[in-house]
Amino acid sequence: MKPELIKISQITPDQSVICILGKDEIPEFLRLSKSEKEYALKQLKAKEDHVFINSYFKCTYLVRIKEGVPGFKAKEELRKAASKLKKLIKANNHNELVIASSNAFKGAIEDFAEGLVLGFYQFDKYKPADKDGEKNKYPSKLLLYGDAGKAEIKWLTDLTDAVYFVRDLINEPVNHLNAPALAREVEKIGKAGGFTVEVLTKGKIEALKMGGLLAVNKGSVDPPVFCILEWKPAKCLNKQPVVLVGKGIVYDTGGLNIKTGDYMANMKGDMAGAATVAGVLYTAAMNNIPLHLIALIPSTDNRPGGNAYAEGDIITMYNKMTVEIGNTDAEGRLILADAISYASKYKPELIIDIATLTGSAANTFANQAIAMMTNADRKYIKLLEESGQEVYERVAELPLWEEYGEMIKSDVADVRNVGGREAGAIAAGKFLEKFTSYPLIHLDIAGTGSLKKNDFYRMKDGPGSGLRLLATFLRKLAVDYKKL
Ligand code: BES
Ligand code: ZN
Ligand code: ZN
Repeated sequence: MKPELIKISQITPDQSVICILGKDEIPEFLRLSKSEKEYALKQLKAKEDHVFINSYFKCTYLVRIKEGVPGFKAKEELRKAASKLKKLIKANNHNELVIASSNAFKGAIEDFAEGLVLGFYQFDKYKPADKDGEKNKYPSKLLLYGDAGKAEIKWLTDLTDAVYFVRDLINEPVNHLNAPALAREVEKIGKAGGFTVEVLTKGKIEALKMGGLLAVNKGSVDPPVFCILEWKPAKCLNKQPVVLVGKGIVYDTGGLNIKTGDYMANMKGDMAGAATVAGVLYTAAMNNIPLHLIALIPSTDNRPGGNAYAEGDIITMYNKMTVEIGNTDAEGRLILADAISYASKYKPELIIDIATLTGSAANTFANQAIAMMTNADRKYIKLLEESGQEVYERVAELPLWEEYGEMIKSDVADVRNVGGREAGAIAAGKFLEKFTSYPLIHLDIAGTGSLKKNDFYRMKDGPGSGLRLLATFLRKLAVDYKKL
């Protein structure tokens, strides 16, 4: 269970507290005894990064953060420092825990709380911790003492709820989450968040002639879905909506070009982009962000099956372009392309797609950056890069130079769905670019979206990459509009 975040203005003597220290100074509100203080100072002088004091009826954790690191790095240090304490916190089985800070900078408590909440995540739906013989639990309440504002705490609560939602869906295996089930989860979060969700089922998708989505779906026994999510508050600052598109491949076997070796290992998470855009709309709606937002989710599994699409097939997409299939494992771009051209009907200000799209992006940046490709105005990119640093989901740009278009030329169709061995992430970006004349930001989260091992508060099974980035970006975009 995710802990609740509650603002408090007083600490009682029996409450256990984590206190973030900027300097080696023990604040009075901790009510430590003289000998406890002496012990703590000794430990801090010995350069321990945290000190743990177990008094008779409460625990105190002192966490020292490095001073002098630039803003966004310090924020990340706090999240990481928090997640490093999670084992110790669990071992002490607190029901509630206060987070306070002495003279650390503004926002420190929120960043620390974010690291804790995200670090506490467990996917235990099918194996509850107590069934596993585990008695200790993470605290169910985190009490924030200090200058954290109500709006900030609400934002953090909704944002982390959304990350938990994304992680849960990534972890849910395909035998529990096929495309129609994904649509039901999206409908649920729409109800909870107060935005609308329309689900187009197979008949409608056929009527619309979404050839990319239908081709990928051919090997499946489950029907595809296409979800349309909309958040349109009474007071919108943008005339044309921002359209988000998320890749919703609930399982990627590769299709007839089947994945070999261990390449299929994390492919239940190939719908991370879809879950992310739903989570972003949730966060925006819950916080009343004054922007008109649409999210599109094309979804199916990709399997070899009776009538599965095959290498060499030529398909006609939603926008009437023809595509030669060079590899059935390059399925993501086909379903995204249909959604991206469908987005034209909204005359969008900007389209942002997010997808676990290419092994190439993962090979290029490992799990350190989201690969970004774009033809959008630099004012958006600047904002996105800033947001990326703030939440430490950094974006790194790859070019979409004209020459790269050569890679995906086809002799028999308008375009081919794969290039050669080289520049695979860019080939995918060039492919998507062809399906819209509106500004597009393409985010490839193949690297950041699945980790080999836990990375502090980012969990190996579904870190939920890109959610905090996009939610923060839209929040900033709304603020920018207000200034105009
Ligand atoms: N879902 C995969 C990409 C992927 C790889 C995501 C690793 C997460 C981790 C995608 O559909 C895919 O299979 N891409 C192929 C494209 C190739 C056939 C051009 C790839 O990257 O190998
Ligand atoms: Zn694939
Ligand atoms: Zn895929």
